[in-house]
Amino acid sequence: MENEHGSELGTQEYWESSYNREIRNYKNHGDVGEIWFDEDSQQRVIDWLLKQEEIGKQARVLDLGCGNGMFLVGLANEGYGQLTGVDYSPKAVELAHNIAQDNNLEISYKVADLTQPQDDLGTFDVVHDKGTYDAVSLCPDSPKEKRALYLATVEKLLRTADSLFVITSCNWTEDELEQSFDKFIKYHTIPTPTFKFGGKVGNVVTSVVFKKL
Ligand SMILES: C[S@@+](CC[C@H](N)C(=O)[O-])C[C@H]1O[C@@H](n2cnc3c(N)ncnc32)[C@H](O)[C@@H]1O
Repeated sequence: MENEHGSELGTQEYWESSYNREIRNYKNHGDVGEIWFDEDSQQRVIDWLLKQEEIGKQARVLDLGCGNGMFLVGLANEGYGQLTGVDYSPKAVELAHNIAQDNNLEISYKVADLTQPQDDLGTFDVVHDKGTYDAVSLCPDSPKEKRALYLATVEKLLRTADSLFVITSCNWTEDELEQSFDKFIKYHTIPTPTFKFGGKVGNVVTSVVFKKL
């Protein structure tokens, strides 16, 4: 994904038709579909959360742009009990709901556009994003404004000053995230694999934990 250039990945129509296809695959072949940035990125975040003593298994966790919900399935399998996923694609929510139901997992899912004010979702101890801020950034229509609206929503969804916003991005570096998230303060960097190119060390994906200021 490239930053500041619109792409179909920034449109609701794209995700709706993509999850429509994935629902068919799931029904016909039991394939849950894509886990963005691979299973390792998801597991790294889950492993980090498991090590945080202040985040108990009853923590309220919200996954933003949950897609097929596999991050929440991973947390449910670890015993977390208060899990919610939201996505603006009704087909994503349908797929995630079907997967949770087939695995006898209690996860609550809702359709919500996170670039719109969300007063009914409540507040959470952990708000998670993997690839959703990236998708919002690719919106062909006013991406800068959309990113600001998205971050304003995130800020309101965090329950207290100690609540965590955990974001994994392949579109923005850690420095860029820190610069754009001026209402948040970096709390921790979850190490991700690095590569070396032209003498410089970079990351393919970045996972950073923020708290609100
Ligand atoms: C790259 S996918 C990541 C899906 C999932 N988080 C994962 O890691 O597998 C981006 C997701 O964000 C959702 N999304 C994009 N913009 C959104 C918005 N404004 N509000 C809610 N969901 C959005 C898309 O429907 C899609 O499911």
